[in-house]
Amino acid sequence: MAFPDIRLRRLRRTAALRDLVRETELRPQRLIAPLFVASQGGEVEAMPGVSRLTISGALAAAERLAALGVGGVILFGIPDHKDAEGSGAWDDEGAVQLATQAIKAAVPALTVLTDVCLCEYTDHGHCGVVRDDGSIDNDASIELLARTAVSHARAGADVIAPSDMMDGRVGVIRAELDSEGFAEIPILAYAAKYASAFYGPFREAAGSTPAFGDRRTYQLDPANRREALRETELDIAEGADMVMVKPALAYLDVIAAVRAMTNLPLAAYNVSGEYAMVKAAVAMGAFDERAIVLETLTSIRRAGADMIITYHAEDAAQWLS
Ligand code: PBG
Repeated sequence: MAFPDIRLRRLRRTAALRDLVRETELRPQRLIAPLFVASQGGEVEAMPGVSRLTISGALAAAERLAALGVGGVILFGIPDHKDAEGSGAWDDEGAVQLATQAIKAAVPALTVLTDVCLCEYTDHGHCGVVRDDGSIDNDASIELLARTAVSHARAGADVIAPSDMMDGRVGVIRAELDSEGFAEIPILAYAAKYASAFYGPFREAAGSTPAFGDRRTYQLDPANRREALRETELDIAEGADMVMVKPALAYLDVIAAVRAMTNLPLAAYNVSGEYAMVKAAVAMGAFDERAIVLETLTSIRRAGADMIITYHAEDAAQWLS
């Protein structure tokens, strides 16, 4: 059968029919809001509407997000002092640790994820330990990352999310969490994280632009999709409970491919540059913010992501309520 017997427009005739047959649902519970925590608050110029927050600012944001039904927050810390090893990352009194404690005490139902990486804490801005020749020492780095993960778990983090892209870090973090009494804390692995220009605004927010070189020896080549599947397979084999693709919009094919190869919950990170582009275009009057944001987030869900980390989370949750 074909036209005129078949008419697909029949099921688009009313809003109620369209609701009935909609394939992809977007709810605030699927969104995770990134929060930047520092000892000093302040605007992030490259990301209109996003600020660095103090502990009390982060707590206030967490309360607002929880009231809107947002699924969680992911915390990034900006330390007062950076050093070669990134020792601020595993400081039990660090911004992420203190904010985690404060949020879990005041809003226990809100899921707190913590980003585990060294780049915000190292004076060179790389995600691992730098050798004298400028290369990144993989195996030395993962010990420090595991120490950081345990510090976050001790502070009360619900989910540990390593974003460094060192080989073997998921397994080492899992073993370290287990031996420190955190066997029940899941790992969301940034499994397919690309060496992307879309992170530019984040690096302003976190002050984590590499002082030399780039991240291409540890993050994925944007040209590669099969390699993203290998990264994901390895993280799953090492014990990841959930996996992530990052960025999201220019990588919807990777989201769909990872969705097809695993039954694990899948996250996508709608990153800072994607957010900044939308904000800039809206400011130019190019389109309606609500419409463009909801369409964008729906597209990421349709590609296969169960949950989306997005700077639009609070606005989107308001629009969806
Ligand atoms: C830390 C980290 C980065 C992002 C999340 N975790 C930056 C980077 O790898 O350079 C990017 C997030 C964004 O752009 O919104 N490794």
